[in-house]
Amino acid sequence: MAFEEAGDGPPVVLLHGFPLDRSMWRGQMEALRGEYRVIAPDLRGHGESESPAGPATMEEMARDVAALLDDSGVGRAVIAGLSMGGYVSLAFCRLFPERVSALVLAHTRAQEDTEEAGRARLENAGRALREGMEPLAEAMLPKLLAASTFESRPDVVARVREMILRNSPAGAAAALRGMAVRRDQTDLLPSIGAPALILVGAEDRLIPAEDSRPLLDGIRDSRLKVVEGAAHLSNLERAEEFDSALFNFLKDCQTEGWFNS
Ligand code: MLT
Repeated sequence: MAFEEAGDGPPVVLLHGFPLDRSMWRGQMEALRGEYRVIAPDLRGHGESESPAGPATMEEMARDVAALLDDSGVGRAVIAGLSMGGYVSLAFCRLFPERVSALVLAHTRAQEDTEEAGRARLENAGRALREGMEPLAEAMLPKLLAASTFESRPDVVARVREMILRNSPAGAAAALRGMAVRRDQTDLLPSIGAPALILVGAEDRLIPAEDSRPLLDGIRDSRLKVVEGAAHLSNLERAEEFDSALFNFLKDCQTEGWFNS
């Protein structure tokens, strides 16, 4: 499993979305490394990590993260995931609740796929294997980024496109198949004892803000940040707002003693 790490302090694990890689967190690593030990892996099938033969389930990805933390000598960590990274974060919470000191869930949901969404994923998996990453990139970009990002941030558009194209069709297909069979995590939410920051994009059409509502209602100690002017990738589209929400949340967690022990 490929990963990057920087800084020193309470550990923060950053889990990327689909079909992206750890480099989407470059700005957040810079922002946090002065006070935190930041660890960003490429989830299986993405970036420089290996692609599995079958579906890459959210549980397998969560177990990979736990193994990486074991190897890094980290017991508990802040688990922060965006979109698919959020699905993996919830799977991690279910498997290893004692290892989560706080949660950041950005542009994600606890609900499983509808039948229609699951079917579309399997079709997309087949298409990626037949035609490569280009059609997937073209189909996803307008959903990942807001219209204002397309107008004023060509650098962000180019960076996301390159990130998608760097991924292998086999890895993307494995992740799509894994997401299609992921379980509903709504029943887990009331048992989560760690504090959670829920981030949504005001213009997110891929996972609209209302889809994140059960996270807010279900997790006892949760707070919401709506990022205006962002679609699905607020950490890239509105980095300053994203970073300050993340930083303030981590500071509060620290003050409240969540990183002790
Ligand atoms: C992601 O951004 O990780 C994916 O779009 C999530 C999904 O397709 O459900």
